[in-house]
Formats: sequence, C-alpha cells, structure tokens
Amino acid sequence: MTQDALKAAVADAAIAEITPMLEKSTVLGIGTGSTANLFIDRLAPLRDRFKGAVASSDASKARLEALGIEVFELNDVGTVPVYIDGADEVNGALEMIKGGGAALTREKIVAACAERFICIADGSKRVETLGRFPLPVEVIPMARSYVARELVKLGFEPVYRQGVVTDNGNQILDCFEVMIERPVEMETRINAIVGVVTNGLFAARGADVLLLGTAGGVERVT
Ligand code: A5P
Repeated sequence: MTQDALKAAVADAAIAEITPMLEKSTVLGIGTGSTANLFIDRLAPLRDRFKGAVASSDASKARLEALGIEVFELNDVGTVPVYIDGADEVNGALEMIKGGGAALTREKIVAACAERFICIADGSKRVETLGRFPLPVEVIPMARSYVARELVKLGFEPVYRQGVVTDNGNQILDCFEVMIERPVEMETRINAIVGVVTNGLFAARGADVLLLGTAGGVERVT
C-alpha cells in the first residue's frame, strides 16, 4: 500500500470514529497537512450533520470553507469535543512531533482546547524515540538568532526554514541531531527560551487516540 493510501485509510477511520458524535451544535477542531486534508475532504459530505469547525491554519480554513464547512473563531467557541490532526512522528505514549507544515502553534492551541485529540498517521510516522524528524520551533523573528544559540546549548543543530512565515507572522527553526528521550521535559525547556512561541513537541498534551495506517489495516491505539 502506498503512503497516500494509508493516509486515506486513516482519514476514513477518523470519519467512522467521529460520525456517531456529530450533532447540529458540534464544532470540530481540524488540523493541518496532507492527512488532515484527506479527512476534510471526507468530512464535507457530512456538513449538514454538524455546525462547523475551528481550523488550525489559514490553509485548512480555506479548504474547509471551499467545501462548504463553516469555520469559527476559537475564541467564540471555547472548547471543541475533538481535534483531528496528523503528525510527523508519534511514539508509543502518543507523544508527537508536529509542525512540518509550520502550523504547530495554532495546532497546539486548538489541541489544548480539545476534549479529545485523535491523531491520524500512516505507519511511517510511528517511532520508538522522537527526534529523527527535525523538531520545528516557532520563534519571534527578532529572537531567531538568540533562540538558535540557546538551542545549540541543548544539543540541537537549528536550521532556519528559509522563506517560511507562519500564519502568526513568525519564523521556524528546524532542530536536528537530538533524540528526545524525555519529551515533556524537552517541550518545557524549549518553551522557556525567551522568543520561542512554541515548539513542535506535543507531549504535555499528546493524543488520546492514534489511528495508524499499516499494511495490515488501521490500528487503533489508546
Ligand atoms: C502541520 O504543521 C503538521 O503538524 C502536520 O500535522 C504534520 O506535518 C503532518 O502532516 P502530513 O499529514 O502532511 O504528513
């Protein structure tokens, strides 16, 4: 099976998972990326069965609206019953690295406001230890060089993601060369650096459910 077919399979599984909870008042939290896009496409035919969505990026907002799904501001909604999003890496504790698409901060905010986080990922994303995928760190532009020096002190090799401006007007440092043995601790340490908006470790708030696409079918991990 191709990676795209595995992504499609987990998008289908996520639709099956959330369909029973849809009500006219339901506002879903929706993530960003190619797997989330496949989920959005499959959600569109159900648009009359729920109220709408909160999006974790301008790109997902545009896709949702183009498919006739109303998008709400998180501040107006408060909380969402479920957030559905992909990951760049996920471990056995359902901790993740996210932000390959530079949407990490809004993703983390929507995830924080979600009662349940469903991670949808093809099997290539499953790892024993997080860190082979470079950890994205969103920084305030004037702090980029300072933050990079602080990240070097933690053992990382930070690389400025040239030409990328986040939806929040910030920049991304992709951090190589550290296998992250204690994700919650590392997430907290990086977030304590002045000038960091947030980092792509989703460990303090990991996923509640992982739908993992494998050759043998979709595994549901909790
Ligand atoms: C976006 O910033 C990311 O966090 C994505 O959720 C992550 O990169 C997964 O993307 P794919 O579904 O495209 O692999």
